[in-house]
Amino acid sequence: MTGRGRFITLEGIEGAGKTTQIEAVCTLLAEHGRAVVRTREPGGAPLAERIRALLLDPEATGMAEDTELLLMFAARAEHLARTIRPALAEGAWVVCDRFTDATYAYQGGGRGLPAARIAVLEEFVQGPLRPDLTLFFDVPVAVGLARAARRSAVDRFEAETIDFFERARAAYLARAVADPGRIRRIDASGDPTGVGAAVRAIVADFSARHPG
Ligand SMILES: Nc1ncnc2c1ncn2[C@@H]1O[C@H](COP(=O)(O)OP(=O)(O)OP(=O)(O)O)[C@@H](O)[C@H]1O
Ligand SMILES: [Mg+2]
Repeated sequence: MTGRGRFITLEGIEGAGKTTQIEAVCTLLAEHGRAVVRTREPGGAPLAERIRALLLDPEATGMAEDTELLLMFAARAEHLARTIRPALAEGAWVVCDRFTDATYAYQGGGRGLPAARIAVLEEFVQGPLRPDLTLFFDVPVAVGLARAARRSAVDRFEAETIDFFERARAAYLARAVADPGRIRRIDASGDPTGVGAAVRAIVADFSARHPG
């Protein structure tokens, strides 16, 4: 394939349903004849996955907030260099479970770091690259955390307080309101079938508007 592929990200708090729904996104795009690369953050490249392990390790207590922010962007730099940019350059569509909106939500909203500081790193690491489409899976915090709690291990973020996730959700919502052309809010509180139908409608429409 030639030309630049498109970059689609999935966002939302813990238990919103990103990982559940990402397969439906990739399947639909493949049906539309797209070459698809499915990936995730933090991670998505060998060294970035090692940074992910550090970021999620519940025993990595007392990590300074700026360290966490810089590790997120260090992992992202690696992910962009090794996986995302090469795939887009080959014309593949990249579908990523979390990206920089999660940094604004978690390190910005959750931890309270200034958005301007995140924006500096975003510009430094990404240049002009931004997702073309972002699916924001929105659930009440109690719903998301109850779902996430049904899974086994608890990572360093899942161990955070309800207030932390309320701030993260609020930051996501504010970004969706500020950038409605890119960020599509999906009510993810319903059953997986209904959420999946909403996901497929949005992605099919986006794909139809981006031929070739
Ligand atoms: N719409 C839904 N209704 C009920 N349960 C759901 C729904 N979507 C996903 N689940 C279940 O909730 C749990 C969390 O879903 P999932 O792992 O997809 O969330 P996530 O957004 O990827 O969370 P995280 O940010 O922690 O990775 C899983 O056990 C999944 O099966
Ligand atoms: Mg997930």
